[in-house]
Parts: sequence; C-alpha cells; structure tokens
Amino acid sequence: MASPRREQRRVGGSERIGLYTLLRLERGGLEAGLPGQFFMLDVPGHIMPRPFSICLAEKDELAFLINPVGPATRVLCELERGQKIGLFGPLGNGFRTDVKRPLLVGGGIGVAPFPYAAQVMGNPPVVLGFRTARQAEAAQLVPKAEVCIEPQLVTELIPGVPMDVLACGPEPMLHAVHALVPDAQLAWEAPMACGFGACYGCVVELDGKSRRLCVEGPVLNGRPPALPLIDDEEEEAEA
Ligand SMILES: Cc1cc2nc3c(=O)[nH]c(=O)nc-3n(C[C@H](O)[C@H](O)[C@H](O)COP(=O)(O)OP(=O)(O)OC[C@H]3O[C@@H](n4cnc5c(N)ncnc54)[C@H](O)[C@@H]3O)c2cc1C
Ligand code: FES
Repeated sequence: MASPRREQRRVGGSERIGLYTLLRLERGGLEAGLPGQFFMLDVPGHIMPRPFSICLAEKDELAFLINPVGPATRVLCELERGQKIGLFGPLGNGFRTDVKRPLLVGGGIGVAPFPYAAQVMGNPPVVLGFRTARQAEAAQLVPKAEVCIEPQLVTELIPGVPMDVLACGPEPMLHAVHALVPDAQLAWEAPMACGFGACYGCVVELDGKSRRLCVEGPVLNGRPPALPLIDDEEEEAEA
C-alpha cells in the first residue's frame, strides 16, 4: 500500500460540474493510492484540514470532486489556478478492486471515488443516483454510468443477480445497499480532523465497539456502523 505523504501542491485548474467543483492539483511524485482512499486537504483560512476521496488520477495531476456544503468546501471550490495548498495522503482503506462481477453504486457526491475506480477497474458497470439534474451532471465523469434522479432511487438500478458491489453515498443509501447486498464494500463518512488515527474525532460504533473510521475504513466490508455518523442530515449544495 502507498505510504502517505504531506506535500504542498499548486492548483492546476478548477471546473464547475453541475453543483460540484472538480479541483485539479499538480501531482508531482504523489501516489494516488487505491480508489476509496482519501487525502486530507488544507483549506486556506481554516485550521483543520478536510477529507476528500481521490476522484481522478492522471500522470500529472490528482483531482478531487467537491460539494460546497459548508465554509471549507466553499473555499476549496473557489481556489484559483496557481494557488498552493497542502495535502496529506493517500489515507485509510480503499476498495478491493480485484472482484469478479463488479458493480459501482454511487449516490450524490458519493460519485467522487468512482471516476478513478472505473479507470482502475477497466470501466465496469456503474449505477448513480442523484437528487437533481444539476447534481447528475457529475455522472459525465464516469464512463457508461446508468443514472437515475429522485424519486427513483439508485437501489432500484441494482440488478437482482449476484454482483460484487462497491458503494459510496449518504448513510441511508449505504444501509439500503447493505440490506440488498450484505457483503457490499461500503465507503462511509464521519467528521475527520487528522485522517491517520491520532485525534479520535472519527470514532463510530462498529460491531458494538468504538472504532476510528479513518483507520478501519472509510471502506468497510459488510459491517455497517451504528447510526448516526453525522449529527446533521446530509446536506447537498443548493446553488
Ligand atoms: C473519507 C471521506 C471522504 C470524503 N470525500 C469527499 C469528497 O470526495 N467530496 C466531498 O465533497 N466531500 C467529501 N467528504 C466530506 C467532506 O469532507 C465534508 O463535506 C467537509 O469536510 C465539510 O467541510 P465544510 O467546512 O465545508 O462544512 P462543515 O460546516 O464542516 O459541514 C457542513 C455540513 O456537512 C456535514 N459534514 C461535515 N463533515 C462531514 C463529513 N466528513 N461527512 C459528511 N458530512 C459532513 C456537517 O454535518 C454539515 O451538515 C468526505 C468525507 C470523508 C470522511
Ligand atoms: S480523523 Fe483523527 S482519528 Fe480518525
């Protein structure tokens, strides 16, 4: 597994994709890690870094897809080409990609790890669900994705045949996927301050015990944590 590194990198570009922003950073010698792993990104004007899944890994750049839900994510969406930011990663446990019958399942900003996963896995079948057509514009990042918009739910697109499911999305979606496919690999979220096991800010209840999600996860195999991981309801940007 790639060793995490702390580096400063320049913004190579930033583009709006529907409601989200694809932030491209110069890669230098950074390793991308496995799909589902994440980086802690420093945010100008904020003390704490924030976790983001690796979205795209090209020869010269790493890209992150950002949903502007709060103060730090809004700052990241406004960064300009040439600005420098710090990042640390890759961190956590990613998806196992050497599966026989892959199906990628994403909900909302949970699409973020799947452009890179699709690249690594040779464009397997993908189903994505969004609340609005503007959010669904992010599906263009994942080749051959089948897309639905509420009221249709992404779980309705999961075929009734055995598949090796890799999923990322809001907590209710992950629990619904787990109910349909108990051994699905599920990428969970919790508030994270350090990303490498030092602060205990990301503790969740797993198998009846307190566990750090940044160390045990974020990808967990068929082991849903007890709810809720985040106090507030999941927020998606409105504008
Ligand atoms: C492993 C991991 C990977 C992630 N990958 C991505 C990604 O690729 N793209 C992306 O846009 N976001 C991702 N997130 C979520 C992102 O880190 C948070 O949205 C961000 O930290 C919010 O910071 P803020 O200051 O903008 O908003 P805040 O004011 O901190 O929060 C705004 C709202 O988001 C909720 N929130 C805060 N932190 C999280 C969190 N970690 N997970 C879920 N909800 C949260 C709050 O409860 C609040 O409702 C990831 C989180 C984790 C743990
Ligand atoms: S984020 Fe610090 S221990 Fe997990």
